[in-house]
Order: sequence, then C-alpha cells, then structure tokens
Amino acid sequence: MSSPVRRRDLIAGVAATAAACLTKNSSAVACSPGLEFSAEENLEARGLTSDKAKVAWPMWDEQEAEALLAVLNSGKWGRTSGGTQLKKFEAAFAESMQAKYCLATSSGTTALMTTLGALGIGPGDEVILPPYTFVASFNAITNSYALPVFVDSDLESFQIDATKVSAAITAQTKALMPVHIGGSAADLDKLKAVALAHNVPMIEDACQAPLAAWRGVPVGTHGLAGCFSFQASKNLTSGEGGAVTTNDADFAQRCLAFHTPGGARGVTSIGRGANYRLTEFQAGLLVTQLARLHQHAKLRDDNAAYLTSLLEKIPGIFPAKLIDGCTRSGWHLYMFRYDASQFGGLSRAEFLKRLSLAGVPASPGYTSLNRSAHVQALATNPHYVRLYGAERMKHWADENACPVNDRLCEQAVWFTQTKLLGSRSDMEKTAEAIATIQKNV
Ligand SMILES: Cc1ncc(COP(=O)(O)O)c(C=O)c1O
Repeated sequence: MSSPVRRRDLIAGVAATAAACLTKNSSAVACSPGLEFSAEENLEARGLTSDKAKVAWPMWDEQEAEALLAVLNSGKWGRTSGGTQLKKFEAAFAESMQAKYCLATSSGTTALMTTLGALGIGPGDEVILPPYTFVASFNAITNSYALPVFVDSDLESFQIDATKVSAAITAQTKALMPVHIGGSAADLDKLKAVALAHNVPMIEDACQAPLAAWRGVPVGTHGLAGCFSFQASKNLTSGEGGAVTTNDADFAQRCLAFHTPGGARGVTSIGRGANYRLTEFQAGLLVTQLARLHQHAKLRDDNAAYLTSLLEKIPGIFPAKLIDGCTRSGWHLYMFRYDASQFGGLSRAEFLKRLSLAGVPASPGYTSLNRSAHVQALATNPHYVRLYGAERMKHWADENACPVNDRLCEQAVWFTQTKLLGSRSDMEKTAEAIATIQKNV
C-alpha cells in the first residue's frame, strides 16, 4: 500500500535545490539540478551550439512541487483514471488561445500526427510545409506515409513564403502545414486565402508559438487546428507534451478518438489510432507553467522590442521581421540574419565564436532541412518508392529545392528564449558585443 507523500518533505527538497541553483547562477527563480546537462543535450539535438544559456530553464518553485504531489497522492495519474488536471489544463489553455476546444497530447509531434490522423491523411496524399522548421514537422507527415512538399522560406521573416504556396498545390494536397517559426506568425491572411481557394484544411504548426497572435487573435485556430509543443526547451513546458486547439467540435472529437485507443463516443472509427495521451502529472505542471508563461510574456515582448531597436542600427544585422498582421510573437527564438560582407568578410562561424567569447552565446540555427541526410533518405525509403514510384522519389528532393531557405540557413543567428528573460542591460551588452566585433574587423 502506498503512503501519501507529505507536502512538508517535498517542499524542503525543492527549497534545497532552489538554494543551490540560486547560488550557482543568481537567477531569481529556482532551477533543477542537472538542468544544464539536459538543456545542452537538447540544444545539440536541435543543431544549436553547446554554449549554456544564462537564464536557467525550466523555472519552478513549490507551486509545481505541490501540483505534482497532488497528482501523486490522488492516485489518478493518467487520462483514463479520471483525474482533474488534464481537464483543468485543457480548459485554461483553450481560454488562453481563444480556442473552443483543446486536447492535450504526449508531444508536439503527436499533436501534429493526431490532426493528420483525424483528417484521414495517408499514403498518396501530399502535405505542404516550410523547410525552415524542426525536423519533427516533417516526421509528423511521413508517419502517415504522406509526401511532404516543401515551399521555400521568406528571407526577411524566416516564415514560409505564402506567395509560393498556391503553385505547390496539386490534386493530392490534403493539408497546408505552415509553421510559426521562432514563435512569430506565418502570413495567415495569405495562407487562409489559399486554403479556402483550394478547399484544403490548414493545420498550424504552432509548436513554438503559444501566445503569438495574428491580428489580435492567438495562433492555433486560424485554420482547422493548431498544434503546440511543451517539450523541455519550450516557453511553456512539462518536459514533454503537446496540445491540439480547434474551434471545430466534430474535428475535436475526431482528434480525441484518434489519440486514444478507446476512440470517442459518436466518432466512426477509421481503423487507425494510437495512444498519444498526456499524463495527469504533466497536465498538473502545465497548469502552473501556463501562469508563468503569461507572467513572462511582457518581459519577453519588451526585451525583444528593445533588442530589435538596438540591432537594427548595426549594418549587416537584420532581425527577423514580424509580418504585417503578426500582432504578437511568442518569442521562442530571437532570430536575425548576419551579413558577413558588413563584417569585413568574417564568417558566421567565426562571428559566433567571437560572440560566445564575449559572453553572448548564440546559435547558427537550422541547417537546410530538405537537404539533410534524414530527409534525403526518404527518396530511397522502400515504402515510399513502392507508394510513389522510384522515378517520382528520385526527383522529389530536387522538386523541393528551396534556394532562399538555403541562403537563410547560411545567414541565420538565434538567441534562445531564455535570453529575453534577461535584463535590459543584457540586451545592451548583446548589441555592444556585436558592434565591437564589427569595429574590430
Ligand atoms: C516547429 C516545431 N514543430 C514540431 C515540434 C515537435 O514537438 P515535440 O518535440 O514536442 O514533439 C517542435 C518541437 O521541438 C517544433 O519546434
């Protein structure tokens, strides 16, 4: 028989950890032991540098400890046990995203897979996505054996070039999957118009974009559905986790049915499904972390605006533009382009090295996804060759050439989201470090 864990013992443990962390990095909020290792591991997995972010992530205190303890002692740890936290989080997240429905999932990838599964997407279908994204966007599509079709990026905003989407649509296109990269919105006016004109549903990959808004309305419900990630590096995190938002009652039911082996009442089975459920523990964490997300938002907004005003003055530094209509970014990444010709030909790699030495770690961001070994391997994947034909697959990678994105990948520089939780003087030091590098070359 399990014995309930007492709040007093747990809080004492959290307080000790917090004290150790505060001494180590003088952050105002508690952090986890071993965090730097896991954050680093995560950065490397995402193609970032191994430099450590200054502000420790994730942040927690006794509220998270209490939330976890409450779930533990309830004995209701999963969705099927009838706990309260999943319902509470889903209601709170739906309200924050101004969505009628929210379904929590085990990750952002499984949120995307749930929506594609609920749409009945499968072999022979095509799904449009941008190349400037995390590989998981691509994986979500190939897990349905659909064909990912890349549409090139817009150099200034880093988002999908919405003016090129129409040309990529064929009779096989079954979904548009724009990504709100960095947490800023893709051009939803143009994308919605294309989706409507071709009668193709739009699933927003908003994995990096909670709180981003288009014309004042949070992203995630501008098409049929939106997908969010609560993986460890995200601004809203439970270590792993995800969510689908939608305003469509029928689609919400189909997603619910697809993400759990038991299906859902009134939903006709399509013969496919999965277990992509989030746990009550993660939901409990997310309830508290959602409050933090809202508390952090203004600081991120202010720091991002200030940093942009400083960086814009430096020749050769081009902060990613917010597309007219993007009224708020979620600021998961702060992205800019580096023009080496304005820095005496100093390569981006050398620029990043000097920046790191100046105490300003930054990352080169994504490499060209459509040229990666992982994506190229699809061309010879035996299932894809059988489904789409050897000839089609042979040319598939070439058809997906994205020259603007290739250029973007050569010029991009990122700061991760924790930077924007720093002080105003951190923003000044960052701009000064870049200006000094320029002066010295
Ligand atoms: C743009 C984008 N799409 C999809 C995902 C997948 O989310 P997850 O890692 O939670 O599966 C991520 C997360 O890293 C992402 O950044």
